[in-house]
Amino acid sequence: MLRSALIAASRSAACRSVVERTPVMRPIVSRFVAGSTVDDAVRVARELAVDRLISLDHLGEDTVDRSQAEQTTEAYRVLLARLAAEGLGERAEVSVKLSALGQALPVDGEKIALEHTRRICEAAAAAGTTVTVDMEDHTTTDSTLATVRALRADFPSTGTVLQAYLKRTEADCADFAGPGSRIRLCKGAYDEPSSVAYRDKSEVDKSYVRCLKVLMAGQGYPMVATHDTRLIAVAEELAGNARRSRGEYELQMLYGVRPRVQQELAGRGLRMRVYVPYGTEWYPYFMRRLGERPANLVFFLRALARR
Ligand code: FDA
Repeated sequence: MLRSALIAASRSAACRSVVERTPVMRPIVSRFVAGSTVDDAVRVARELAVDRLISLDHLGEDTVDRSQAEQTTEAYRVLLARLAAEGLGERAEVSVKLSALGQALPVDGEKIALEHTRRICEAAAAAGTTVTVDMEDHTTTDSTLATVRALRADFPSTGTVLQAYLKRTEADCADFAGPGSRIRLCKGAYDEPSSVAYRDKSEVDKSYVRCLKVLMAGQGYPMVATHDTRLIAVAEELAGNARRSRGEYELQMLYGVRPRVQQELAGRGLRMRVYVPYGTEWYPYFMRRLGERPANLVFFLRALARR
């Protein structure tokens, strides 16, 4: 219930204005968000690149303003040029949300988002790196997967996210487990109805294992995105059963979440990628992170009370 409330708050303009205007919130936000500028993103990427890989996310989502979508596209192109100039193209890729690139525009949204993402893929190819397309709420899944299929025709390394809480995902994993595919499997961060999603935590975890089995047995490159150490152990076992070497899959976590576990796993020689968001549009991303762990909410409420 708490998680649902926070996800609802992540879409509330009134809550957003209170939280964004509360200065004591800054230290809590900075645990999960690298900073507001490209310089901040590159600085954090350089620090993490010592032992980990990185996926950078220029924050933003749900835009219904075409010029905003164009600005976001340009921001990614600037970021990718910087990554190339800094020699970070081999360690750092980018993650994009199609709803930040125009998918939600009332006219031709899907087409516009595809064109914008194509331009980002071109810049990524020039920088020697890849793009992974995030997955948003279930009303966008078909559109997002169609866009990823179209992108892969020209940029075969384009990856996408599948969410284990959706009942359809085991079948989507089978569809996307072919050669060259890059699939980031996560549990899912939105508040979805029981008609399409498992709502019970143990059901989500069981689905995650079923999806992992399909991806590990397939011919693509599985990206295991979870902070759940039991599932990471299962992933390692399934990778071993499928005779995958350590270079044939990777683990992924979010910036600021379980950093010591990230270091331990990287220290054991596993490929560990950190998803690093940056930018000024941090509010919805931050609220979803609060909902994932009650202890985060306690810090947040204390900060609000001190304001
Ligand atoms: P779970 O929530 O069960 O957490 C396991 C343990 O990890 C917790 O007990 C806690 O210790 C720790 N933990 C988890 N979240 C924490 C937090 N916020 N703060 C502190 N500790 C925390 N979702 C989506 O719908 N679309 C997407 O595109 C993506 N993309 C994505 C990329 C990457 C790299 C990751 C790691 C995750 C995503 N997600 C996502 C988010 C994902 O769906 C999910 O909401 C979170 O990863 C939390 O789920 P866990 O798998 O970590 O398990």
